[in-house]
Amino acid sequence: MNNTLLTFQNVSKVFRRVGFGFLSKTAVQALKDVSFSLSSEPEVLALVGESGSGKSTICRLILGLEEPTSGEILYRGKSVSEWLKNNKKEYIREVQIIFQDPYEVYNPFYRVDRVLWMAIKKFNIASGDEANRLIHESLEAVGLRPREILGRYPHQLSGGERQRIMLSRIYLIKPKLLVADEPVSMLDASLRAIFLDHLRDFKNLGISTLYITHDLNTAYYIADRIMIIYSGRILERGPTEDVIKNPLHPYTKMLITSIPVPDPNKRWQDRVVIDVAKLQKVSGRESVSGCPFYNRCQFAMDRCERNFPETKRINNQEVNCFLYE
Ligand SMILES: Nc1ncnc2c1ncn2[C@@H]1O[C@H](COP(=O)(O)OP(=O)(O)OP(=O)(O)O)[C@@H](O)[C@H]1O
Ligand SMILES: [Mg+2]
Repeated sequence: MNNTLLTFQNVSKVFRRVGFGFLSKTAVQALKDVSFSLSSEPEVLALVGESGSGKSTICRLILGLEEPTSGEILYRGKSVSEWLKNNKKEYIREVQIIFQDPYEVYNPFYRVDRVLWMAIKKFNIASGDEANRLIHESLEAVGLRPREILGRYPHQLSGGERQRIMLSRIYLIKPKLLVADEPVSMLDASLRAIFLDHLRDFKNLGISTLYITHDLNTAYYIADRIMIIYSGRILERGPTEDVIKNPLHPYTKMLITSIPVPDPNKRWQDRVVIDVAKLQKVSGRESVSGCPFYNRCQFAMDRCERNFPETKRINNQEVNCFLYE
């Protein structure tokens, strides 16, 4: 890919946990050798994985809240740490995030108008009447009535309204990269569809999105490409249609067979949403050097326990599995 916005190059992250008492130090390999890139040609890339697979760790690394243990993360060709050291303001304007629970990011004493004005001021977006016009426009763009909403405090808003205000912030700030970490898991089905439509529309504003989810259905709905992560390893990736219609990795296959067959008479949001987290209990990280899916895989071979397969390209997909050697 030529026009890369964000690149992960063999990124690993180990958390050293200090527990109680003597000898209780443990290490958690949250990410292992993760490589991917996101194009500056606007696209939605979905990162799909179950709880504890390392999705939020990827987020935190992009934001510079954590540093990689090894490997490199480049944004527009420069490392994140370099951006934060030399061009922090530019970086935090260009790279924005939306979290699962919008309530947590609000200051309970700030009304909506202040939240949006702060974004305007922080990034010198506009001033005076122009700023006012932009605030009204951005709220209307996400289906909120400025007059009704601007004077309210966070506790006077529904979860859906709070999440839409986060979207209107994105309309105002117009970042280049949006990282959305499980943004719709607290919304009901109809709001979820509206929210996802906005993420897709952001492409028209030149915004690329890393959409993080444990729900393959919503990934299918909006993503151009899908990347499947399991226990800190990317196991498969490719264009959405290809991955969903022709899953290669046994883990992806397991996920896809868990998606209910769509009833053509139903809208997608009426379908049962698969929740990867509920499929089976996560089996721990016994096989760190080999394939992490080893002990759940019906095709497991001896070497899967010891070695992790190289990336194999098959048509437009990439898979890490010895079945494809
Ligand atoms: N600061 C930390 N210290 C120690 N371990 C951590 C830390 N942050 C994350 N981990 C561990 O790293 C692994 C990956 O966590 P992460 O939060 O990235 O998962 P996730 O895919 O976002 O899960 P979820 O879907 O539940 O949000 C987990 O085993 C987690 O316990
Ligand atoms: Mg998470």
